[in-house]
Amino acid sequence: MKKPEPLVEILATGRYLPDQVVTNDDLAQRMETSDEWIRTRTGIRARRIAPDGVNTAHLGAGAARKAMEKADVEPGEVDVIVLCTSTPDHWMPATACETQALLGCTNAWAFDVMAACSGFLYGMSVAEGYLAAGRGEIALVIAAEKMSSIINWNDRSTCVLFGDGAGAAVLRRANGSGRGIVASHMRSDGRLSNLLCRPAGGAAEPISQGILEQARHLVHMEGREVFKNAVRSMAEACDFALQQAGLTAGDVDLLVPHQANIRIIEATAKYANLPMDKVFVNVDRYGNMSSASVPVGLDEADEQGRIGAGSHVLTVAFGAGLTWGAMVLRY
Ligand code: UT7
Repeated sequence: MKKPEPLVEILATGRYLPDQVVTNDDLAQRMETSDEWIRTRTGIRARRIAPDGVNTAHLGAGAARKAMEKADVEPGEVDVIVLCTSTPDHWMPATACETQALLGCTNAWAFDVMAACSGFLYGMSVAEGYLAAGRGEIALVIAAEKMSSIINWNDRSTCVLFGDGAGAAVLRRANGSGRGIVASHMRSDGRLSNLLCRPAGGAAEPISQGILEQARHLVHMEGREVFKNAVRSMAEACDFALQQAGLTAGDVDLLVPHQANIRIIEATAKYANLPMDKVFVNVDRYGNMSSASVPVGLDEADEQGRIGAGSHVLTVAFGAGLTWGAMVLRY
């Protein structure tokens, strides 16, 4: 099978993590939990929490500035900003527009993509299509999440899992270098939307005193069901993306999976036939940063020299929607 030629390349990535580290022991002082429970069930040891006043747009702009600096791209050169988030700063307007203002990308158009933990991969796909159609030269894909603002701090089964952070990538229309997005496979299944959601507070059931009292505007998750679906869907997505790329597991230099739970990561790696030394893990330091997990992982892996020229990187994610997807990148 002829290997597909990337239409879009990644010029650079960047990340921004708030300074405040909250360990499992810190949480154990505030609620009925323990470092042992969190570590053994999830692999998480700590997460970052953004302070009041540092919003999703600030996190996103922090990551984007680093990516643009590395890519040597000026704000005025950006044609489109795709901001992926489950934690928009406002219901209206899009956080992408607020981020655009912070960055000074005055020649761009900007919009949000909401696909939860799969958001970055969805956003990359959207930007790829836009650039490949010849509508622009440079795209900024940002994944920014202030999960601490939407989790229920009285629900120990979810609040210990998430963290705040942002990652970004600068994309450019490919010029035949062979680098970039080689293949992707995206899916969703809205029939399972109730497994992971914020049940109320949107247009279907606008915010009310009752909703606030029952905390139904915050994240609700059926952990076990989500877990099972995550393993199945991420495994399937890896298969499809690799097949489309004309590659096998042996060709993959690094797997950068969504960082929800070390047990899900290990199961995905096992299914994909990849040893753990070819898998990037940072869930221990940051917890689940939803859409930001994959781009932060890509950026750290690059910085640590685990990705080099010619590397094949497989990324895979899964989240609320349900949504999932995988993407093969050549660096
Ligand atoms: O990004 C995609 C979205 N998220 C995910 O992919 C997460 C997917 N799900 C998971 O990772 C796992 O289901 C969890 C880590 C959330 C939970 O692990 P589990 O092994 O499925 O535990 P469980 O929910 O079945 O709970 C087991 C026990 C319960 O006690 P009982 O009923 O057995 O007495 C819980 O009350 O653990 C208890 N528990 C806790 N104990 C201490 C739940 N949360 C905690 C906690 N600390 N934080």
